[in-house]
Amino acid sequence: MSELANYIQHQVNGLEPVEALRTLAAEFPGEVVFSTSFGWEDQVITHMIFTNNLPIKVFTLETGRLFPETYYVWNRTMEMYGHPIHAYYPNHEMLEAMVNAKGPSSFYESVENRKECCAIRKIEPLKRALQGNKVWITGIRAEQSANRQHMDNVEWDEGNQLVKYHPIYSWTLDDVKEYIREHNLPYNTLHDKGFPSIGCLPCTRAVQEGEDFRAGRWWWEDQSKKECGLHAT
Ligand code: ADX
Ligand code: SF4
Repeated sequence: MSELANYIQHQVNGLEPVEALRTLAAEFPGEVVFSTSFGWEDQVITHMIFTNNLPIKVFTLETGRLFPETYYVWNRTMEMYGHPIHAYYPNHEMLEAMVNAKGPSSFYESVENRKECCAIRKIEPLKRALQGNKVWITGIRAEQSANRQHMDNVEWDEGNQLVKYHPIYSWTLDDVKEYIREHNLPYNTLHDKGFPSIGCLPCTRAVQEGEDFRAGRWWWEDQSKKECGLHAT
C-alpha cells in the first residue's frame, strides 16, 4: 500500500461514510471523484454526496449497452438532485473499428473479445475520468463476491495511480436496502427482479436464489474470469 493510501486509511478510520467523504473532499479539493453505475449501492453514495453538497465529481461510464431501467434511474436521479452526473463515452474510432471488424456482439465469442469490448467501452473512458485525481470512490461491498472479501475499504490502485475508497464496503445488502427505503431513493427496478449486480444488458442476467451476487455477470464465462478490469484484484 502506498503512503497516500496509508494516510487516507488513517483519515477515514472510524468515520461514518458521509463524514469520511466530507473529510476527503476537503483534504483533496477537486481531486475526488465517484463512479456510479446507478446500482443501489451507488444510489446510497450519490445521496450522501448530493444532499450534503460535497464537492465530489460524480461520473458514469456510458457503455452504450446499458439497460433501459438504468437510463430511467439515471434520469430520475438527475431530476431529484439537480446536480450534474458526467457521462464518459467510448472513443468512437476504437468502437467503430471493433464493431466493424467483429460485429456488435463479439463479446460472446471469446474472453479475449469480451475483454476488448470492456476495454473500449469502460476502461479507456475510465482512464479519462480518473485522470488528474487522487481518490476514486466506488460502491463496492465485501459481500458482493469472494474476490471482494479480500479487498480493503481503502486500496492503492497501481494501474491508475490513485487511492480507491469504498465507503460502504462493510455494509450488508440489507443495510443498503434499508437506506434506500428510509430515504425513499430512486433505484434500478431490476434489483427487484433477481439482478443484484447490473452491468451492460447483453452481459447481465438474473441470478437464482443462493447464487453469488455476481453470478449473472458474463454468466457464460468461468467464475475466475469475471471482472471487467475496472476493479482488477
Ligand atoms: S464491475 O467491475 O463488475 O462492472 P460493479 O458492477 O460490481 O463493477 O460495480 C462496482 C462499482 O464500480 C460501482 O459501485 C461503481 O462505482 C463502479 N462502476 C461499475 N460500472 C460502472 C459504470 N458503468 N460507470 C461508472 N461506474 C461503474
Ligand atoms: Fe462490452 Fe459486455 Fe463489457 Fe459491456 S460488459 S463493455 S457490452 S463486454
